Amino acid sequence: MPMEEYSLEDIPGVGEKTAKKLMDIGILDLQTLAHSSPVEIARAADISEDVAEKIISKAKELLGLTVFEDALSILDREKNALRITTSSKNLDKLLGGGVWTQAITETWGHFASGKTQLGFQLAVNVQRPMEEGGLGRNCLWIDTEGTFSSLRISQMAEALGMDIQKVLKNIIVAKVTSASHQMEVVEKYAPKIIKEKDIGLIVVDSITANFRAEYIGRGELAERQQKLNSHLHKLKRLADAYNLAVYVTNQVMMKPDVIFGDATVPIGGTPIAHISNYRIYLKKSKGNLRIAGLADASNLETGEVQFLITKEGIRDPEE
Ligand code: GTP
Ligand code: MG
Repeated sequence: MPMEEYSLEDIPGVGEKTAKKLMDIGILDLQTLAHSSPVEIARAADISEDVAEKIISKAKELLGLTVFEDALSILDREKNALRITTSSKNLDKLLGGGVWTQAITETWGHFASGKTQLGFQLAVNVQRPMEEGGLGRNCLWIDTEGTFSSLRISQMAEALGMDIQKVLKNIIVAKVTSASHQMEVVEKYAPKIIKEKDIGLIVVDSITANFRAEYIGRGELAERQQKLNSHLHKLKRLADAYNLAVYVTNQVMMKPDVIFGDATVPIGGTPIAHISNYRIYLKKSKGNLRIAGLADASNLETGEVQFLITKEGIRDPEE
C-alpha cells in the first residue's frame, strides 16, 4: 500500500532534479524505487550504479524493508498477496484461489478462446468487496487491439447486481497504438493513475500484439524480446509496489518445426515465461465451453479445467 510519509527527496543524494528524472520513468514514491534495479535508476537519473544502489537501499530502509530478507519475512510479504475471483470455481482452483496480486497472470490461446472475456470479468470482480472475492479497488485497462467493450462489462456487472455506472467509471481505459506508446503508459502514466484511482488490477490486452507488429524481421527479434522483457519487469514492479494484480493476454503463433502434437506456442517466448508467475492456456471446446490449463507455475499442480463464457460472464459448467 502506498505510504505517504516519505517522498523521494527524503533520500540523501536525491534532490529536486534527480527526483524529477525518476518521476519521468514512473518512479513516484519510495515503494516503486525500492523495487527498481540499480541499472535502471542509474540510467534514468544519470548517476553511477553504486550511487543508484545506495539510493535504493535507503528507500528500502525508510520503508522498513531490508536488503536481506529471511524466508519468514518473505512468507509474511507473500501472505499479503490477495486474490481476485474469476467467477469460475474451476478457474479459481487452477490459479490457487484466483488471480493474485504481486504477480503477472498471462493467458494465451487462439481467437475467441476467452482471453479478453476473462479480463472483462476480472475488471468487474476487482471492484467487488473482499468477502465477495474482489479487492474493493479499480481497474486500469490497457487496450492495444480496440476490443474493450463497455457494453460487455455492463452485462457482467448487471448479472452481479452491481451499479453499472459506477463499475464503468472505475475502469480507466488507455488505448495504445504502438509498442512505445504501450511502454510509456506503463512507465509514465500508470503509477499516477494507480495512486489516484486506487487501482487493484492492470489488464494489458494484448501484451504482445504491438511488439509483434513492429519488430518483424528475424534480425529484430532480440530487440523485441529485450523491450518486452523490460516492459514486463515494469509491470511486475507495479504489482509488487502497490500489491496489485496484472493480467495480460497473449496470442499464439504456429511453431514451424512442430510436426506432431500441439503446434501452437505463445508469442514472446522466454521473457514472458520467465516473468509471468501464472501462465494459463485457453482452448475452445464445444459451444461456449472452454478449457484452461496451467502451462507452468512453480507452486501449483498442473492440470486442465473447464469453464463457460455465458451472457452473464465467466461461469462454471453445470455439474
Ligand atoms: P482474440 O482477442 O481474438 O485473440 O480472442 P479472445 O481470446 O480475446 O476471445 P474473447 O475473450 O473475446 O472471446 C470471444 C468469445 O466469447 C466469443 O466468440 C463468444 O464465444 C464469447 N462471448 C462473447 N460475448 C459473449 C456473450 O455476450 N454471451 C456469450 N454466451 N458468449 C460471449
Ligand atoms: Mg481478445
